[in-house]
Amino acid sequence: MKNKKEILNSVIEEISLLPQDWHGAGSVSRLVLEAIARYVSGMGEIPRSAETGSGKTTLLLSHLSRHHTVFARDSGQSISQVKQSPIFERDYVVFIEGPTQLTLPAYRFEEPLHLVLLDGPHGYPFPDLEYYYFYPHIREGGLLLVDDIQIPTIRRMFDIIEADDMFDLLEVVDNMAFFRRTAAAAFNPLGDGWWLQGYNKSMYEKMMAAEPETGTQDIEIQSHRLMYFLARSTPAFAKAVIPRKLKRRLLGK
Ligand SMILES: C[S@@+](CC[C@H](N)C(=O)[O-])C[C@H]1O[C@@H](n2cnc3c(N)ncnc32)[C@H](O)[C@@H]1O
Repeated sequence: MKNKKEILNSVIEEISLLPQDWHGAGSVSRLVLEAIARYVSGMGEIPRSAETGSGKTTLLLSHLSRHHTVFARDSGQSISQVKQSPIFERDYVVFIEGPTQLTLPAYRFEEPLHLVLLDGPHGYPFPDLEYYYFYPHIREGGLLLVDDIQIPTIRRMFDIIEADDMFDLLEVVDNMAFFRRTAAAAFNPLGDGWWLQGYNKSMYEKMMAAEPETGTQDIEIQSHRLMYFLARSTPAFAKAVIPRKLKRRLLGK
């Protein structure tokens, strides 16, 4: 009798034998499928996952996840081919068909996600929009996979996520980025806080360190300077006793 690893290897083998044009929307390489399987195996099991776009990754994730949600359109028969495939484990997958620009904002996630793959529409700002609707639901230790980071607009999103406290970059395989969710608090999806984000940090610090322009009346910049000064000059023990609620209010989060 085959063990779990052997079964997975033969699933990957079967998927890799599918022709390049198995569906007409562009697909991932065997190396990517193997990397997904490797990271997931290291996590034990995947109770909940989701992806945008459909295809070979959906076949694989139907074997790796106990509850996988696919947000996609059937362009190039990328959904129909999956549904008809003998490799597909249909009991573990739910399709939310339609443009993610409409389906994701309307969807209510009931449980945290252990894996999210973004490989749906690639035009700007659609992957960014998808990221927005997913990131608050990715649990600590969960995986975020972003495909096609060679596309400049997706590369910019990759750079922003890479600099964010919420994610650690694990690896890039054939233009698919593998991130792991850290223990950092989720960035408030309904607030602001651009100055707290790693991608903006050096610009923000320069802005704060610069001599105030004579006569600048910009209240926002002035109050940021004050907060920045307080944050840097308050000893750690004093910061620790400031209630979280007050900190958030002061930082406008
Ligand atoms: C690059 S393919 C995904 C490939 C898949 N990950 C695989 O391994 O074969 C892109 C997918 O996004 C879907 N798609 C394109 N535009 C979309 C949109 N606006 N909303 C939802 N899905 C979309 C396509 O139908 C296709 O399923």
